[in-house]
Amino acid sequence: MTELDPTKMPRHLAIIMDGNGRWAQQRMLKRIVGHQRGAETVQMVVDQASNLGIGYLTLFAFSSENWSRPKLEVQALMALLKKYIRNELRRMLKNNIRFNVIGNRADLPPEINVILDDALQQTSGNTGMVLTLALSYGGRQEIVRAAAKIAQQVQDGTLQPEQITESLFSQHLDTAGLPDPDLLIRTSGEMRISNFLLWQLAYAELYFTDINWPDLTINTLHAALADFQARERRFGKTSAQLNQRS
Ligand code: IPE
Ligand code: IPE
Ligand code: MG
Repeated sequence: MTELDPTKMPRHLAIIMDGNGRWAQQRMLKRIVGHQRGAETVQMVVDQASNLGIGYLTLFAFSSENWSRPKLEVQALMALLKKYIRNELRRMLKNNIRFNVIGNRADLPPEINVILDDALQQTSGNTGMVLTLALSYGGRQEIVRAAAKIAQQVQDGTLQPEQITESLFSQHLDTAGLPDPDLLIRTSGEMRISNFLLWQLAYAELYFTDINWPDLTINTLHAALADFQARERRFGKTSAQLNQRS
């Protein structure tokens, strides 16, 4: 097992969980079986992240664009989500995890929203890891929603245009209150962001692996974290500046 430095964990880990469909198709199984297996990987990653002391874990579970998939697949994913949240709630309460949701919740079926609200409410007092599910989430849509909220305040006269700063803008995003991700992992070999956390990923370290999401193991997750720990995050500075003692 890869040695990890507990003092150098990402504060916020974001993951694009991709490759469920291909995992299933390679085994002559239905795509939904891949999603079911993927839900098991989610449990493993949530446990690992919380045990490793990662403060924030954000998982891309369903994108704004995923609504364009075949109706049957969308329905099956919604049914799986319902089952997952119900099961996960017990474990979140046990592990002191605070649940959070980002995305356009208005598009989700009402019965999903009821379950989400219940999980949000029951875990609201928890003080451990913040687990955020991105559901019906798109980064551009989120930015447009934030811009509209800010424009409304300017029109109402409660905000002056010169008061619009990066920090004020961030506070109007769905992720208000969360630090920006330090590390983004995407599985399944695709090397794209697919409209995930466009604003927030500005300085994230990116890690791509060919492994399909259902095949991700503790070992491969640790390998991604070890890779992150070996990187030098310069934020525009030079390496020499970072290594200066004073
Ligand atoms: C990720 O797996 C899960 C969701 C997008 C809901 P995919 O379903 O995208 O799997 P592939 O990319 O088709 O293999
Ligand atoms: C991104 O995966 C969305 C989620 C993981 C939920 P997709 O499989 O939908 O991404 P694209 O469309 O291939 O880029
Ligand atoms: Mg995919």
